[in-house]
Parts: sequence; C-alpha cells; structure tokens
Amino acid sequence: MCGIVGYIGENNCVPILIEGLKRLEYRGYDSAGIGIINHDECRVVKTKGKVSELENLISEIQIESNLGIGHTRWATHGEPSMVNAHPHLNTDHTLFLIHNGIIENYLSLKKGLEKEGYVFKSETDTEVLAHLIDHYLKMKHSLFQAVRYALNEVEGTYGICVIYKREPDKIIVARKGSPLVIGIGENENFVASDVNALIAHTKQVVYLEDGEIAEVYKDSFTTKTISDETIIKEIHQVDIGIDEISKGGYPHFMLKEIMDQPESIYNSLRGRLVYNEGISKLGGLQGFEERIINSNRILISACGTSWHAALVGEYMIEQYAGIPVEVEYASEFRYRHPIISKDDTVIFISQSGETADTLAALKEAKKKGALCLGVCNVVGSSIARESDAGVYIHAGPEIGVASTKAFTAQLTVLALITLLIARRRNLSLPEGQEVIKELQQITNKVEIILKQNEYIEKIADQYVNCRNFLYLGRGYNFPVALEGALKLKEISYIHAEGYPAAEMKHGPIALIDDNMPVVFIATQDSVYDKIISNIQEVKARKGRILAIVNEEDEQIENMVDHIIRVPKTHNMLTPILTVIPLQLLAYHIAVKKGLNVDQPRNLAKSVTVE
Ligand code: F6R
Repeated sequence: MCGIVGYIGENNCVPILIEGLKRLEYRGYDSAGIGIINHDECRVVKTKGKVSELENLISEIQIESNLGIGHTRWATHGEPSMVNAHPHLNTDHTLFLIHNGIIENYLSLKKGLEKEGYVFKSETDTEVLAHLIDHYLKMKHSLFQAVRYALNEVEGTYGICVIYKREPDKIIVARKGSPLVIGIGENENFVASDVNALIAHTKQVVYLEDGEIAEVYKDSFTTKTISDETIIKEIHQVDIGIDEISKGGYPHFMLKEIMDQPESIYNSLRGRLVYNEGISKLGGLQGFEERIINSNRILISACGTSWHAALVGEYMIEQYAGIPVEVEYASEFRYRHPIISKDDTVIFISQSGETADTLAALKEAKKKGALCLGVCNVVGSSIARESDAGVYIHAGPEIGVASTKAFTAQLTVLALITLLIARRRNLSLPEGQEVIKELQQITNKVEIILKQNEYIEKIADQYVNCRNFLYLGRGYNFPVALEGALKLKEISYIHAEGYPAAEMKHGPIALIDDNMPVVFIATQDSVYDKIISNIQEVKARKGRILAIVNEEDEQIENMVDHIIRVPKTHNMLTPILTVIPLQLLAYHIAVKKGLNVDQPRNLAKSVTVE
C-alpha cells in the first residue's frame, strides 16, 4: 500500500513525480503529496484525495527542482487528510520523509521525542520517523547515519525515502517489509515502491532487500545493511513495456484487463505444455519436482482473490494428483501456530508478490522447513524472491484494483502444477493429453465469452439497483461463486455473498424473496442435477435468477430470468471460463452506478500492511 517515488538528476522532478504517482495510484489514493528541495528552497505540496487534485494544486504554483519525492497514501494511522498526507517534515522543514508500512512502536518513540520538545502535527506513525531522524541529525550525524540510527530503533515495517536540505545531493531509501526499487538512469536516478513508476524512464533496476539502506546520488548509488555492512547489488533488466501499463483505449484498466485475458492466459501457458508426454514443464520448479511429488500434504496460502484461486487449486490437486491439500488464509496461517513439517509443500499465491500477510506466512512456513513455492505475477517481488522455487503467472501488470486477469492466470498455472504432479502419480498419458488439449483451446473459449460483453452489459441494467446478491456454485464453481461476489462488492459496494449452492438451505435461503438476485454457476458437471434442484428451490421462493450455464444447456433457460452461456471445457478448467461473465457483470454494474471501478473506496492494490 502507498506509492513512493523519488527523483534526483538534471531534469525537473515535478512532472516525473506526478506521472510516477499516477502509475502508483492503484496502491492507495487517500491523499497525495510531493516534497522538493531546490537550493535554498524546500517546498511541500500535499492534499487529501487523488493525484489529479495534487496535480491541479501544483499547476497553480509552478515549482521546479532536480530533487524530489512523492507519495500516494492508503491510510493506516490517521484519517485521510491534508495533515496526515506525506511527505512528513522535521520541525524546521528541512527534512522530508515518505513512508510505506507501519511503525509499530511509534507511541513509545513519540513519547520520548515529545519529552525532548518535538511537537507533532499529524496522527500518523510516520511523523515519528521524521523527528527521530532529526534527533540524530542534531547530534551531527550525516543524513545516512541519522536514518540508519533511527531505523535501528524502529519496530514494524517500512519502505522510506528521505531528502534533506543540507545534503541536497542524495535521496536515502531503506526497506523492511515494504518494497523499494532503485531505477538507474543516465545522470539521473529514480526510486519507487514498484517498477511501474520507473519504466517510462529506465528498465535498469536494483531491488532493495529487507534490512537494506541505499544512498542514491544522481550518477551513482551505494547500498548497506541497516547494521552498516556494505553490500553490492545486482542490476536487473525489467521487461515491461509502457503500453502494458496504460489503458490501451479502454475506459478503465479493469475492462482492459478482463479483455486481456486471452493473451494473459496464453502467456501463462506459453512454452509450458508438452503434448507428446502429456506433461507441463515449469522451469521455476526444476530440481524440486521430486520433493513436491512426494509431499505428504500440500498447503496453499493466499489472500482475497488469490485465496479463491487457492480453493480451486485444492480441488484440482486432490482430484487429479491425489495429495491432500489444505487452503489457508495467509492472515490466519501465521498466527494460529500451524503444524507444518519438512514433508509439506506450501504454495503461496500472490498477484503482487508483496501482500504482507502472505509474505509473513511464507516466512513462517520456511522457518518450519517446508518447501515453499511462490505463484506470483510481479517478477522480482518479495514473495517470488523469498520462495524456494516458484512459477510466474506472466499475466502482465494488473493495475485495476479488482483482480481479474491475475485470477485466471493463477488458475491456469495451478492447472499446470496439478498436471506436473498428477502425471508423476496417477494421471494417465491420455488423461494428461486431454488436459493439454483443453488448455490449448481455452483462450479461444475465453474470447467467445468476451464477445458477449454487450449482452452482459444489458443484463447488468436489470440488476444495477439491487442492494444484495447471492452467488451460488458447487464443486469447482464454488470458489467462482466466492470470487463473483467479491468482485461485485468491492467495486459496486453492493452486498454480495458466495456460498456452496447446497449450503443455501442451511441458512441463506431465508433471505430469498422477489428482491433477491441469485447468481447460479451451473455448468454441466458431476453436480449438475443437484444444482438444478437448488435453482428450483430459489425459483419456488420467487428469487430472481441469473445463471451461468454451458452453451449446450437446454434445461436451465426456462427456470431463470437471465442466462449467460460459456463453452464447455475440462472440469478443472471450468472456473477459468465461468468467472469471466461475473467479472463483466460486476464491472458493468459498477460503471452504471457511476463508481470508480479502478480505484474503489478504501481499497488498495497491494496490501503491504498486516
Ligand atoms: C480482489 C483483490 C484482493 C487481492 C488480495 C491479495 O479483487 O484484488 O482480494 O486478491 O489483496 O493480493 P495479492 O494476490 O497481490 O497477494
């Protein structure tokens, strides 16, 4: 959460910072601010609200500098407001600091500083750091040392970026638990919380690890650990194009990302299928296959949409690879003292690769000796780097806060992992080839569904004023019901619940009347007849029914109010198709309600606080 960007070089930093913040705004959009130092002039401009509001403010005052930092905030401590917006300052306004993360011991640090006479203006934990660094600067330490000493007193997480009027030739950045990357340019360098903010300027980046601090000059940088040991960092080449992080003519990132799915799924499959042998080839798992195949148990841990993908993974692996699987919310996993052994494999699924709960769960499982695999989208992200091995989903940058193409790419990769394990255990060659054949056709089938976009938009008209929704599915479509409900509630603010369809009669059926829309995901699988009975139960109570069914279905149409048809596929791949109409439905309902689908209220794309 929170976006961080910084610039030092020969150009005017202000447009660079604003553009960088716009690219990072999906991380948080409660407030935005920049701080610049230009010879003797130190300026801070900040505002509650979005980066566009900051941009308007700046256009009225005309500021320029070769050194500056910017921040877009997702509020933790202190409400979204101007005073709580970053940068935070020391008392004489010579030091600017921006921060992503949470300083857990800020209250005790604050008390100590108040005793020394420091006066606090904001309710944030971050302001403590600005004054603490100032405290060490007053003891005649350099900015670098002052930051280092201050960080040694801090408990919690941080990605920070600091500039100081008396040392205007550098930016200091440091990381513990919140991502930070340095972008290397020519006579200019950049810092940011993720590469999206940099790639318009440079593809050469250095990822800071936890416990590292860097001094970034316009033409060089040095890195150390917080405990003052020098370290040499590798420079990486990023291969994301600027077109991948723009809307490409669509009104919203979310719609673009839904429409991108034939390509993103294709990319997650590319080069990974071997038809003759009926297997998948996953380079990132090379050398670890035996351990995975012989695992006593597989755990899958994730949050939100990635957790829904994990549930599908559980169905896939248990059914086809015959290994017991447990799915864990990452946020619970860490704190409930899970029993994990060296014979377990734990798969961590995360689009961003930065989700704090998932990262903490990974560290816990690693400590206990399990084999830890990452299934991430963002290359070089913390979870990808901390895992023993893993598979990138290659969905391309996902900017819309509601996850869409990452989900279908996660499902694709889970099918590949299942195939890899199952073929070494109990899946026959023809069965393996059947999965591969279906995977090879899946992108065409996705396209068939996407062609119904306008039809789904018309259906959305009928539901836009509803206040509650139920989503019901069985088997592989149960996690899809959860995901459909999550998509709707997070962008349209309509209350929606997902249930296994048969659970309805154990409680939620009490909610059904002619005002309650019920979305059934009812493809022709082994529980088809059962779900038809569940549809009848809702119909008997006058619920409004929208059903996602297979193209060939002849039974359901007459029982329901609206129907969306999807092609048939291998049962374990069904969720890749059935979720797409639900993504489009949520999107169109939210747009019709006039809401900001790419930046829904209170949310942030990557949740780097626990
Ligand atoms: C929902 C959504 C979130 C994320 C969750 C995990 O649309 O995007 O629920 O899925 O915050 O994020 P990652 O996958 O980055 O770990």
